[in-house]
Amino acid sequence: MTDQISATEVAEQQTPATASTRKVFVKTYGCQMNVYDSERMTDALAKDGYEATTTLEDADLVLLNTCHIREKAAEKVYSQLGRLRDMKKARAKEGRDFMIGVTGCVAQAEGDEILRRAPAVDLVIGPQTYHRLPEALRRAKQGERVVETDYAIEDKFDHLPAPQKAQTRARGVTAFLTVQEGCDKFCTFCVVPYTRGSEVSRPMDKIVAEAERLVEAGVREITLLGQNVNAWHGIGPDGVELGLGALLGRLSKIEGLARIRYTTSHPRDMDDALIAAHRDLPKLMPYLHLPVQSGSDRILKAMNRRHTAAEYVALIGRIRAVQPDLAISGDFIVGFPGESEADFEDTMALVRTVGYAQAFSFKYSTRPGTPGAEMDGQVPEGVKSERLERLQALLFQQQTAFAAGCVGKEIDLLLEKPGRMPGQLVGRSPWLQPVNVDAKGSEIGDIVRVRITGAGPNSLFAEAIG
Ligand code: 5AD
Ligand code: SF4
Repeated sequence: MTDQISATEVAEQQTPATASTRKVFVKTYGCQMNVYDSERMTDALAKDGYEATTTLEDADLVLLNTCHIREKAAEKVYSQLGRLRDMKKARAKEGRDFMIGVTGCVAQAEGDEILRRAPAVDLVIGPQTYHRLPEALRRAKQGERVVETDYAIEDKFDHLPAPQKAQTRARGVTAFLTVQEGCDKFCTFCVVPYTRGSEVSRPMDKIVAEAERLVEAGVREITLLGQNVNAWHGIGPDGVELGLGALLGRLSKIEGLARIRYTTSHPRDMDDALIAAHRDLPKLMPYLHLPVQSGSDRILKAMNRRHTAAEYVALIGRIRAVQPDLAISGDFIVGFPGESEADFEDTMALVRTVGYAQAFSFKYSTRPGTPGAEMDGQVPEGVKSERLERLQALLFQQQTAFAAGCVGKEIDLLLEKPGRMPGQLVGRSPWLQPVNVDAKGSEIGDIVRVRITGAGPNSLFAEAIG
């Protein structure tokens, strides 16, 4: 799962305070899955009278929904906890309550250790037990320091309240929907199989019901989420085993739903039905995030990716053959243990062959407990930095070229939010680029026909037509 929206703060609905309302501030780190979870936790707490706030000073409860994917992401949490501890002390002097909770993957991975390192923390809740949050909060209020990091047997989604219409509407016309969690792939660099557990797919009927609720509340685009989303499998109404391609087909029948996306996928799970979905479903956007991590077969093997560079390139070719308009995005790690200059050059060569519209690249970060941490040939930081710089220069060049290639095209744009200039709205292109347009007379949620007139490094400009 990519953490492409790194350290996204979840902007929740703000409503006027009353004397009795308590307020929760949720700070989300990491991937889209955490964004989705933060929303579900906010919904669960709303039932207990908590209103969401985006102002830390107003909060009675702070939840840090954390990411453990790289060392830096995990360390951020402890520095943030230091600041919150000081706030808690100041509040205590005023006689005001202030509770601190840690959720997400750091909570799962470090559990009790967080309570030891950060005495101001009141509760620690792992991703599988979010539905127990209100109860945990009640116990914490009675003075217990709560740690909930079991893999719950019950399905948390059955116990979390479904999003309410008003809340959904306030969150906008695009929404995330988690369909699958966890990972059984065990790439040797990755903590996810340990923090999110083994692969679990949510049942099709529940996903469809949730999607319908979102659409009824005004959502026009849904992104299906999973750490390994294309490993999703379920049982159809006739008892037949289905994969993600079939789920996409079912969802695309929902009237009013205009666009569907999914992320993040593993190359091994791109089956024929899913590839065919890219050909057959107009609502499925022509964008595919398909991480490869490295272009060297030796390193791919050491990473336990279970495919070669050539297999990945061939797979991209098969998908492009049915959907030539496809924008490819990827994740890369440089400086995995044992990576030589020649291995790195193989990655550069793969990037040149594929041509990415967008990509995320990282220096390998040693994660305790993963096989990679024990491997010989750890690469010096300086070498990693230098390789990352070269790779990112190439990827940036490709992203810029892809954007420049969009100029002159006519596309449908889903208007998502106000732009910076008066009268301007911002939407996403089918290829996920932000697009600024003067769309007088149009509203957020409309899909308008536009012509791309310009391309900046990170966004496009367009004029409305027709
Ligand atoms: N070090 C660096 N990057 C990592 N990723 C996952 N684990 C690590 C690690 N230990 C990257 C991968 C993955 C993305 C979400 O984060 O590229 O696809
Ligand atoms: Fe998402 Fe957890 Fe991975 Fe962070 S470690 S990116 S929260 S799955």
